[in-house]
Amino acid sequence: MVVQRLKLAVFISGRGSNMRSILEASRLRDFPAEISLVLSNRPDAPGLLIAQEAGIAAEMVDHTQYASRADFEAEISRRLADYEIDLIILAGFLRILTASFVEQWPRKIINIHPSLLPDYKGTNTHQRALDDGRSEAGCTVHYVIPELDSGEIIVQKRVPILPDDTAESLAARVLVEEHKIYPEAIRHIAGALIKS
Ligand code: GRF
Repeated sequence: MVVQRLKLAVFISGRGSNMRSILEASRLRDFPAEISLVLSNRPDAPGLLIAQEAGIAAEMVDHTQYASRADFEAEISRRLADYEIDLIILAGFLRILTASFVEQWPRKIINIHPSLLPDYKGTNTHQRALDDGRSEAGCTVHYVIPELDSGEIIVQKRVPILPDDTAESLAARVLVEEHKIYPEAIRHIAGALIKS
């Protein structure tokens, strides 16, 4: 047995509702992971306050203060080094990580994306699904590889698109499922890692 509970670093840029869902799951006795660090690239991310109120280490690395992505990521790596992190969780983190960073964490970075990948990579997923007249949307947790929104899928959940949906109403319905599948994906990964 390698570890009892995975140590997570959750990267955010904003609201932090997915981070909160993982935090709530981690309070369950049988949840195989805990959040050791929340890291935001934006000083005003509301999710930082959620982490602080929960007594979790919350750090901010403002990308605008670095001359290059490499410098920004070097600072992130320095912060991570203090926490013996097993898994990096991207939860509404609005910075693209370089291949060099991603390759330092093979199958150790996961992301949640608000579409049924491989459909609708990138932004504006809900509006694009509505514009295409789709009857289903959804969300996906996947491993992060250098190519955007393209790594192996871990969990996916389908959500019906209703006749009166707007991008906002659809986003809200999908978000409810995001909050379920992200903890589920972490359980799945932890199960495999802890057994190995
Ligand atoms: C979520 O919809 C997630 O799928 C996307 O960004 C949003 C983040 O929301 N990647 P939150 O900050 O977790 O509330």
